[in-house]
Amino acid sequence: MKTLAVMSRKGGAGKTTVAVNLTLAARAMGVRAVLADADPMRSACEVLKGRDEAPGLLFETSASKLFALTEACRRSGVDLLVIDTPAAPEADVAEAVKVADLCVAVARPTYLDLAAAVLSVAVIQRLGREGLIALNQCPPTRAGVEPPAVVKAFEALRFANLPVAPTAIRSRLVYQTAFARARSVLEIDSGGAAAQEVRALFGDIWRRLNGERPAAAASANDDLRRGMRLGLAPTA
Ligand SMILES: Nc1ncnc2c1ncn2[C@@H]1O[C@H](COP(=O)(O)OP(=O)(O)OP(=O)(O)O)[C@@H](O)[C@H]1O
Ligand SMILES: [Mg+2]
Repeated sequence: MKTLAVMSRKGGAGKTTVAVNLTLAARAMGVRAVLADADPMRSACEVLKGRDEAPGLLFETSASKLFALTEACRRSGVDLLVIDTPAAPEADVAEAVKVADLCVAVARPTYLDLAAAVLSVAVIQRLGREGLIALNQCPPTRAGVEPPAVVKAFEALRFANLPVAPTAIRSRLVYQTAFARARSVLEIDSGGAAAQEVRALFGDIWRRLNGERPAAAASANDDLRRGMRLGLAPTA
């Protein structure tokens, strides 16, 4: 079993959006994935409460119960445990970091979110875990041109030599309408741009979780080059 912690010390960066959509994308691809809502605000529970399979999909939990939950999931044949965490510094979500094979730091392409994510990855790595920054709520490209904020975000992360997912999640209304219907963006519009980017992000994370990743020192540059090929990073 692999465990993924989705985190950000910044409120509203998109932890719950990313955690819920990744979990449901994984299940749609045949991965036995479950979601642990470790945020006392219980946003993931609120979103998913209307679903028929919610009992097997979602666990309401807390930091002190995470280790036991992880072991129970492992014993019952779960492939992937995704943990949605509260907006708090890494020290406050240490239990999630400790049980995670990969910690995804979600960041909007803004100065303060990126600064927080950079700090998060440093702390995660210091704790001996692997960190990855995933950009969320990025403005969509216009006529194939990447908005400057996204270009700058990828560049800043490249220069800091930090691991960044090549797929940026865009700001799209469908992420909000999907939540209002207790659904993932894949279930609302499986061929849509949002579904494609969630599948791509999940694919990258799943490969990393299964050991298919570049050496740490090269990862940011490699990711950036892949991002460029995908049209996600600077083209000029
Ligand atoms: N890519 C996106 N496109 C459009 N809206 C988004 C996107 N990501 C998140 N949102 C919206 O932004 C708001 C905050 O997102 P979300 O609840 O996922 O963030 P969070 O980091 O989990 O917040 P908190 O810190 O409160 O737990 C929600 O209303 C959500 O629907
Ligand atoms: Mg949340």
